[in-house]
Amino acid sequence: MAKEKSAIFIIFGGSGDLAHRKLYPALYRLYKAGVLKDHFAVIGTARRPWSDDYFRETVVTSLENLDDDKQKMEEFAKHFFYQSHNVNDSKHYIALKELAAKLDDQFSAGHNRVYYMAIAPRFFGTVAEHINSEGLKTKNGFNRLVIEKPFGRDLASASELNNDLSKAFPEEEIYRIDHYLGKKMIQEIPNIRLKNPKFDKALSGKYVSNIQVTLGESLGVEDRGGYYETSGVLRDMVQNHIMQIIGSIAMDKPDEMTAESIHKVKTDLFSSLKVLDPEEVNRAFVRGQYDTDRLGKQTAYRDEENVDDNSNIETYAAGKIEFDDERWANVPFYVRSGKRMPDKSSRIDIVFNDQASKLGINPNTTVSLLIEPENGHSILVNGIDYQDSNQDLIKFPEDKTYFDDAREAYESLIIDILSGDRIHFTLWDELQSTWKYIDVIREQWDLETPKFPNYLSGTMGPEAADTLLERDGNSWVWDD
Ligand SMILES: NC(=O)c1ccc[n+]([C@@H]2O[C@H](COP(=O)([O-])OP(=O)(O)OC[C@H]3O[C@@H](n4cnc5c(N)ncnc54)[C@H](OP(=O)(O)O)[C@@H]3O)[C@@H](O)[C@H]2O)c1
Repeated sequence: MAKEKSAIFIIFGGSGDLAHRKLYPALYRLYKAGVLKDHFAVIGTARRPWSDDYFRETVVTSLENLDDDKQKMEEFAKHFFYQSHNVNDSKHYIALKELAAKLDDQFSAGHNRVYYMAIAPRFFGTVAEHINSEGLKTKNGFNRLVIEKPFGRDLASASELNNDLSKAFPEEEIYRIDHYLGKKMIQEIPNIRLKNPKFDKALSGKYVSNIQVTLGESLGVEDRGGYYETSGVLRDMVQNHIMQIIGSIAMDKPDEMTAESIHKVKTDLFSSLKVLDPEEVNRAFVRGQYDTDRLGKQTAYRDEENVDDNSNIETYAAGKIEFDDERWANVPFYVRSGKRMPDKSSRIDIVFNDQASKLGINPNTTVSLLIEPENGHSILVNGIDYQDSNQDLIKFPEDKTYFDDAREAYESLIIDILSGDRIHFTLWDELQSTWKYIDVIREQWDLETPKFPNYLSGTMGPEAADTLLERDGNSWVWDD
């Protein structure tokens, strides 16, 4: 049974989509698991003038697909309170502070506070500043600030945001969410490496031909066209999720399994990213935008709601990332992420080279770590499933329910926040390096007009993404 935690959560944007789709269901699961029990309360805050009762109804509605235990859901909802608030109004922070103190007494929450930014990124700095200046931070408990993505649009805006936040919260109180780091398979990678010394040893340029990271989605932008127009897949997926996945698989072995040691090796890896020269961008990176499908039935990106008819925003990106690092010298990390691909599939494919036979690994072996839609792994030799002969290369937990019973990403990340464990959050030093890398690509792309749309919905993306690997004598492992 998990240990009970205590805190008052203040959710800025408490009436919004993220709060209702992700946060309240995650908090409810933690309630059912006993991690949250008697000593917590949630203050939802946003401009609209909701009553506590109405807010609780919306919370219960957000749980309807999870459970049919109405009594439990209502019991849970009694921990929820609503405070109308405009982020720019100082008075409202005093009201929040008083309500939080009152609820802390009522629920004996140990003066612990979680400030969760489920609002538009342009408000992150203002809210943090007011939390500090209006004295919301408590002296005798913890104060943790949770920041959603996106963390900036480029290095300059990310630095500005970070400066604003750091005036109000020291780095160790800031929890930057990258929900991929909450996914079970990603969290398992350091353990898999630790428990499989041969596999860990083989993770180096000596034995690896290339590593591929794919975050493919079958859906289009759905109702998020407006957001996507300001972002594109490079900022939305590559700068954060893909980079963090590379970090998990390619970082050096940490001295200890602590947040400090793990972030040190990750930061070292990212600081060795080989930043492209502008003239290298179009050789190393490919962008795409989806059209309708072969039958003309699906909506092309440019015809989606809130999307410009001539939009040049990319819904697909693929690239070759390299590191100036002894361990990974000359090993390409091929990455791609796209919307309207044939299936949803998040995976890491590690392709070993001939030298791997020195470690007893069969020639042409590929180890695939599957993140979504299902957790798991496969080992292919010459494209054929060859798991049995490679048993000593990588062993997974034998208990089949190990992954099935895993906590959902937000649930796991909220436990980490309540426990003060920062392993699965991104640090500013890491972000600085990844933004620096991405900025060159973005700036170059913004100078040129792409020929969009350039791939049909339901396909693997533009042909140029295949050429990218073929030029090096390689090919994508996951293919339609
Ligand atoms: N939705 C997702 O799946 C998702 C995934 C990853 C990251 N995120 C990030 O999470 C954050 C929230 O996204 P969302 O999709 O939940 O947005 P949303 O549905 O638009 O919610 C925004 C919230 O902010 C409140 N708000 C807006 N202006 C305000 C103001 N001036 N003062 C106080 N509250 C204000 C809104 O309520 P009122 O209108 O009543 O004020 C609402 O509760 C964003 O940073 C987004 O990038 C979202």
